[in-house]
Amino acid sequence: MDFAQDEWDFLLSFYQFGFAVQAAATEMGLYLTMAKTLFNTLTDINTRPGPFEFYTAEALWADEHTSEKMLEFHLNDAIDLSSRNKAFISRSVDWIVSHFGVGPGTSVIDLGCGPGFYAALFAENQADVTGVDFSKKSIEFARSAATEKNLNIDYRQANYLEFETDKQFDLITMIFCDFCALSPKQRAVMLNKMFVWLKPGGKVLLDVYALPLFDNKSEDASYEVNQLNGFWSADDYFGFVNTFKYEQEKVTLDKYTIVEKERTQTIYNWLQYFSKDSIRSEFAAHGFEIEAFYSDVAGSAFSAESNEMAVVARKRLCSPE
Ligand SMILES: C[S@@+](CC[C@H](N)C(=O)[O-])C[C@H]1O[C@@H](n2cnc3c(N)ncnc32)[C@H](O)[C@@H]1O
Repeated sequence: MDFAQDEWDFLLSFYQFGFAVQAAATEMGLYLTMAKTLFNTLTDINTRPGPFEFYTAEALWADEHTSEKMLEFHLNDAIDLSSRNKAFISRSVDWIVSHFGVGPGTSVIDLGCGPGFYAALFAENQADVTGVDFSKKSIEFARSAATEKNLNIDYRQANYLEFETDKQFDLITMIFCDFCALSPKQRAVMLNKMFVWLKPGGKVLLDVYALPLFDNKSEDASYEVNQLNGFWSADDYFGFVNTFKYEQEKVTLDKYTIVEKERTQTIYNWLQYFSKDSIRSEFAAHGFEIEAFYSDVAGSAFSAESNEMAVVARKRLCSPE
């Protein structure tokens, strides 16, 4: 069959039109698939896990990049973020030293010691001090500060949930509400360890978040490019934070989803809030008696309105059930 030129032209443009339609449809399909994937990703980001379902404290505190940033926060006296300010710490140590008789012949272990602000001051009061923290950066800082001041402190880089020692102490401290970041099971592990590590009659001092703070919290979701000024990575990232509240359990979660070019990570920052009764019964179940409640670890009088409370717990003479 012979085709005239204009018939060829018509056939060609017909095929070209067909290809264009097909390409457009493929592109649209691609967009639809991408939109679906993005929808699914955002759904995951906004999903509420079960209380304390995941534990990612190392990514928050001990990761190569975040631990560097955390150390900057510890050392920045203008913000009470990783450690409280120096004036508070000095007041707090003065109270601890006089209340617990910290001095020559007493032994103290500071769990989650960070860069050793408390540990160094206990050691300056001649106590025998051990500091435990899983942040390499903080422990390195603490060790070199101790060397500079000629203080003999036994710093250990370890997860305190796994740390073992044969030594027994007069006082165990865990300061700045670290206990609240642990699940009920982890807190049971910690309290069992504390019981074993204490000499008879030895005491625990720790602070926790209280219910007035829980009541003021609300759920939220936000997104920021390079959230928290590059806290999560040296590379560019998109940071999402979802705050969830668990009314019944008195728990909150800040769930961070950090999307980088090569990886996406989710970091869970859990906090348990306590009443006098809830912390008393938790300690009682592990062989402790609460001796006193305060509003902070500087011995301020207890107030029911306070956002935090400090507890002094004494090891009972008989072992826990
Ligand atoms: C809020 S900071 C308080 C630091 C210090 N107590 C202070 O008040 O200056 C909590 C510290 O606990 C450490 N930490 C958190 N979870 C830990 C764990 N499971 N094992 C060991 N250290 C931990 C962190 O690295 C951080 O230094």
